[in-house]
Amino acid sequence: MIYLDNHATTRVDPRVVEAMLPWFTEHYGNAGSVVHPFGEAARDAVAASRQTIAAAIDADPEEIFFTSGATESNNLAIRGVAERPKRRGDHLVSVATEHRAVLDPLDRLAKRGYAVTLLDVEQDGSPLAGWLDPQQVSDAITDQTCLVSVMLANNEIGVIEPIAEIARVCRERGVLLHCDATQAIGKIAVSVRELGVDLMSFTAHKLYGPKGIGALYVRRRDPIVRLETQISGGGQERGRRSGTTNVPGVVGFAKAIELCQAELTSESQRLRVLRDGLFERLIAEVEGIRLVGPTLAGDRLAHNLNIALPALDGETVMLRMPDVAVSSGAACSATDPEPSHVLRALGMTPDQARCTLRIGLGRFTTAEEVEQAADRLIAAIGGLRGLSSS
Ligand SMILES: Cc1ncc(COP(=O)(O)O)c(C=O)c1O
Repeated sequence: MIYLDNHATTRVDPRVVEAMLPWFTEHYGNAGSVVHPFGEAARDAVAASRQTIAAAIDADPEEIFFTSGATESNNLAIRGVAERPKRRGDHLVSVATEHRAVLDPLDRLAKRGYAVTLLDVEQDGSPLAGWLDPQQVSDAITDQTCLVSVMLANNEIGVIEPIAEIARVCRERGVLLHCDATQAIGKIAVSVRELGVDLMSFTAHKLYGPKGIGALYVRRRDPIVRLETQISGGGQERGRRSGTTNVPGVVGFAKAIELCQAELTSESQRLRVLRDGLFERLIAEVEGIRLVGPTLAGDRLAHNLNIALPALDGETVMLRMPDVAVSSGAACSATDPEPSHVLRALGMTPDQARCTLRIGLGRFTTAEEVEQAADRLIAAIGGLRGLSSS
């Protein structure tokens, strides 16, 4: 099996597993147990991990709140701001290409009477496809806007949004900015200070860490960001998110982010070469294939490729190459049979959106695997085209 679906999730790095193991069976204390050494060890490990994770994104440890993943972080950020009794107003601004974990909480707020503006992005065919013009954000903000939410990198087409400029616009207008950085952290250098965001979501399982652990960065000065608590109980995470701390998960998250930091530049160069080589081979050998999303040399994640295969359904192609794991549409919404809302937001028709494949290279992807995957894909497409012409 060749795994090229690293936007959906990543294999946990064995070094991360090794770091986590003692926290299941040896140091299994509750980080909230203050009176014995088991609890103390857990608490110290969580504190050290929080420090590592904060440093990786240029934040203070007190600005990191652990959650169960980016879905929860997005919900906490959006509902946490929108449900504050003392908010600026009931208007939120976001983008049509966001992940469901942003769009769904916004939909629910809209049903409760909030006003939600979803901005459009550059359309399919443009070298900037998927890119959000910061001017649009500026135009959408009103004196009632309490939050703008824009992702850093898209999970389907890899476009990297101009968050620093969007943050400048939000700051000038006195509006908080939340950023879903789930696909970007560990892949590109991210500094919350340089970006100027107020809230940022991310998750361990997209960066070779375990599933079920994520974080929300919450700015604590200039301005201090206050959130309405969504999960209450034992008061963990300084009351912002109750629930017994997932100590092995937190330790694994920190180890995973540390490894990504250490290998970031070399790894993104390696993946860029593999990704570009794969695309060159596909366009040379398959007639009619084309790129979806921004140009490969533009603001795009180095490990992301999304291709359109005219008149060939992505899922049918996938069935013809069962030993290659890729995705047609967002794997994160695999329960949704509808064509990808991201591709639809680029102006693609439902049929065009279905005729695409998303390929996500990763740390464990070898050059040999990429060659083999290209062989399989070319053979699968050739086979299907042969069938339709016979
Ligand atoms: C951009 C983006 N945001 C949020 C999520 C949800 O993250 P999690 O699986 O940690 O809840 C995903 C992927 O699943 C994603 O790609």
